[in-house]
Amino acid sequence: MARIELTGVTKVYPGNVEAIKNLNLSIADGELVVLVGPSGCGKSTLLRMIAGLETITDGTIEIGDTVVNKLEPADRDIAMVFQNYALYPHMSVRGNLEYGLKNRGTPKAEIAERVNEAARILEIEPFLERKPRQLSGGQRQRVAMGRAIVRKPKAFLFDEPLSNLDAKLRSHMRVEIRRLQRTLGTTSVYVTHDQLEAMTLADKLVVMNGGLIEQVGKPLEIYSDPQSLFVAAFMGSPGMNLIEIEQLQALGASLPDMVPANTGTIGIRPEDIVLGDAGPEHISLPGTLDAIELVGSESLVYGRADGLNKELIVRAPGIHLGEPGNRITFSIPKAALHCFDRDTGRKRVATANAA
Ligand SMILES: Nc1ncnc2c1ncn2[C@@H]1O[C@H](COP(=O)(O)OP(=O)(O)OP(=O)(O)O)[C@@H](O)[C@H]1O
Ligand SMILES: [Mg+2]
Repeated sequence: MARIELTGVTKVYPGNVEAIKNLNLSIADGELVVLVGPSGCGKSTLLRMIAGLETITDGTIEIGDTVVNKLEPADRDIAMVFQNYALYPHMSVRGNLEYGLKNRGTPKAEIAERVNEAARILEIEPFLERKPRQLSGGQRQRVAMGRAIVRKPKAFLFDEPLSNLDAKLRSHMRVEIRRLQRTLGTTSVYVTHDQLEAMTLADKLVVMNGGLIEQVGKPLEIYSDPQSLFVAAFMGSPGMNLIEIEQLQALGASLPDMVPANTGTIGIRPEDIVLGDAGPEHISLPGTLDAIELVGSESLVYGRADGLNKELIVRAPGIHLGEPGNRITFSIPKAALHCFDRDTGRKRVATANAA
């Protein structure tokens, strides 16, 4: 086990593609860090640099107390789990689990012990003599995990390991990975663009954008207090409602003091909007209903506020009924507003003497 320290890490691919820009990140021993961000933001590049599969253009990567910049992947003592499990098809599950250890000359008795232990933890004992093609996707994924576990590496690196699985299996495996990582206490870096995976797995969430870190924090911290418009828009499903402050002012909406005039965008989470009149602590926007999706325990209500050329989404508890064209009122609690600067996209902090 080990901490991982990235200092000033930069990656420039041939053709002058700057994929990672002077990035700093500390990952504590035993921590599970999730990297999340849109396609092309550099998640896999960063992971592959930690693994040693990609050279580092600038900066340093430390695993434990060793600078690994120049170490071969095999000498970094880490294990990587990919979305295509990369199992050897002609070998049994047991063979797949043993392979890496045999290559390292691990004594036979110890191999057997480690393989049996991993099989027990992952509940794949009944399949040990089968070939990978005789397994379901989730079982194969567990074998891939098993191959990482038996090595007892300093760290696990996961690159979207569950994205080939169906929704139900994905949520099952998500819980298993979390449990396993806690049990083993192995430092892990996990790449995904699945919101739910990011929110539920991470001890620490890293939101990336264009080769840079936008925000680092506990998942709920990032959800409830996004520091930039980018993070606000990216995290959450359905996403945060974003409205230009100028548009609200043109409607004559009464804005709280913390929202400076003409200066950007406000955001409001779908679950924070109240339907119907809700009193003076709210911005009240009359409008029209477009559609309702009944999700079971809650309803997603889509509509438009009069004069706002923008769809608003409300997440309302329980079952909400209505017809397209019905009149509704969106009540936005002033206390739940997020406010972002037009020029920088950063969160605006309310100050007593804001100009
Ligand atoms: N071998 C390469 N040569 C040149 N450019 C590359 C190479 N690999 C990746 N890139 C570029 O680097 C950037 C980051 O790519 P990367 O694969 O790290 O993104 P990602 O965040 O993992 O995306 P995704 O979510 O789609 O997997 C992209 O602009 C990509 O086109
Ligand atoms: Mg990727």
